[in-house]
Amino acid sequence: MKRLTVPKIMRRKFEGKTEEPLVMLTAYTARQAQLLDPHCDMLLVGDSLGQVIYGLPSTLPVTLDMMIAHGAAVVRGSYHSLVIVDMPFGSYEASPQQAFESASRIMAETGAAAVKLEGGQAMAETIAFLSARGIPVMGHVGLTPQAVNALGGYMARGRNEAEEAKIIADGVAVAEAGAFGVVIEGVVEDIAIALTEKVAIPTIGIGASAQCDGQVLVTEDMLGMFERVPRFVKRYNDIATIISDTAATYAREVRERSFPGDEQIYPARKD
Ligand code: KIV
Ligand code: NA
Repeated sequence: MKRLTVPKIMRRKFEGKTEEPLVMLTAYTARQAQLLDPHCDMLLVGDSLGQVIYGLPSTLPVTLDMMIAHGAAVVRGSYHSLVIVDMPFGSYEASPQQAFESASRIMAETGAAAVKLEGGQAMAETIAFLSARGIPVMGHVGLTPQAVNALGGYMARGRNEAEEAKIIADGVAVAEAGAFGVVIEGVVEDIAIALTEKVAIPTIGIGASAQCDGQVLVTEDMLGMFERVPRFVKRYNDIATIISDTAATYAREVRERSFPGDEQIYPARKD
């Protein structure tokens, strides 16, 4: 089997160091997964699909059924990368038992090899519970979008000593509970570096530091699908312009009856 496994990902961080950083991108659809798969170590079916695909105002309304449908599509479209599916808001926080029920559905119905959930110390018991029962868990600390109402917005975290101490404690708790990796999102760089040195598991940064053990971005953000993006996004392309220019050309050709042309029509039979 060619697909990367959780132990293989963990082994990439050897004696506290990662030689070659881990590459992770989000994927929500089968064709997108096919295109990204050869270039990545991990594909994340992020609950960011709420905003990116469904136009929702936050990740909070995303359901387990949505995550399962997209998770299964991404597994079908990939064979090399480890596929990780986000546990949506409300599907895991109540108890380790609730988390196990949701995570086991994700694993069984998508074929993904791991789940990700948000939270640090408060989720340590749940992470230990799942990990001990055959469900690899990736943690997610710092700016945790499902907690937007408690945090008061999507601004960077760790700008004072109390916040900094909390993020480090959260990351350490997640690692000690048995998570196989942890996303560090939207934090002051020093914190990401300190946490990466402190924990034995790979840290995956987004708005964190190039010193993390790996990086993740939302694929549509990276492609330039959106006009407004957070500071931590690098737009590597301008797919929004490609799409609108292409639609404009198509619309013009339809309106002037130059599409379909000779090559796109079935000519009359000559017999
Ligand atoms: O949902 C998501 O896309 C994520 C990444 C940004 C880490 O959680
Ligand atoms: Na997410």
